[in-house]
Amino acid sequence: KIVSLVGAPTDVGAGARGASMGPEALRVAGLERRLRARGFQVLDRGNLSGPANPWQPPQQGYRHLPEVIAWNQAVHDAIYAELREERLPILLGGDHCLGVGSISAVARHCRDTGKQLRIIWLDAHADFNTSELTPSGNIHGMPVACLCGAGPRELVEMAGQVPAIQAAAIRQIGIRSVDEGERVRVHEAGLEVMDMRYLDEVGMRVAMQQALAGLDENTHLHVSFDVDFLDPEIAPGVGTTVPGGVSYREAQLCMEMIADTGLLGSLDIVELNPALDVRNRTAKVAVELTESLFGKSTLMRAAG
Ligand code: ARG
Ligand code: MN
Ligand code: MN
Ligand code: MN
Repeated sequence: KIVSLVGAPTDVGAGARGASMGPEALRVAGLERRLRARGFQVLDRGNLSGPANPWQPPQQGYRHLPEVIAWNQAVHDAIYAELREERLPILLGGDHCLGVGSISAVARHCRDTGKQLRIIWLDAHADFNTSELTPSGNIHGMPVACLCGAGPRELVEMAGQVPAIQAAAIRQIGIRSVDEGERVRVHEAGLEVMDMRYLDEVGMRVAMQQALAGLDENTHLHVSFDVDFLDPEIAPGVGTTVPGGVSYREAQLCMEMIADTGLLGSLDIVELNPALDVRNRTAKVAVELTESLFGKSTLMRAAG
């Protein structure tokens, strides 16, 4: 399978500037070379383009809605084109509002090909806000709600079907910051959330066994990796750090268990903010974890 890299250098959905530098930081950290070393053919498709960040306050509960729509449409079209060629696209974000375009494309591809979709959402946040509930107006706090059918029409309808995905297709791992009204909606929607308390109690292994239960050869597995999933001690380069996150070892196990399914079909790496990073450390950690997601293992296995 050919892996393609699609950069989306924007931070229009975020509350801090800098995620727009994420794609280049991941390239500098050696993403392409490391994937090649794992035996993958890699096509770097370069960066998409879109509107600049106007840095305006929210209007009717949304910041930068026209810009967010434009970027997501570009992401949707690019990721969908890669999936049609049967490539495995990696979206290099950019902030997490881009999950709408990326996952809408994946949902469209699954509909075309009759695949079952499972989304592993690795994040400190549920990203399930609406314009009425959001404390910030930042649309990177809303992609899961949009994909499940709640949000501005242009985002909600991007997959060509509403809702783009069923809430039952999502597993959220690492959650530890959910706004008050958002929490109520998460419960109402029946989202399956393995929060930090749950990970502390049952461990990453059991949580991932559950998150990956019920897959078969016909499943397209999409991973949406918000790097604030990780503890800020190992991943300081994000705009919305929340203490008490996933450790390096836990994250490695999580990625290895996903790799073991052999079903990974697409990936987002989002919210990396090089302006807040320390010598590109967070980008390097993200690249190391991506290697594990693509099958790098510490296990000593007999050949064949
Ligand atoms: N819940 C907060 C908000 O709506 C933070 C969202 C952070 N999202 C993210 N993708 N980092 O503003
Ligand atoms: Mn496919
Ligand atoms: Mn987050
Ligand atoms: Mn997020």
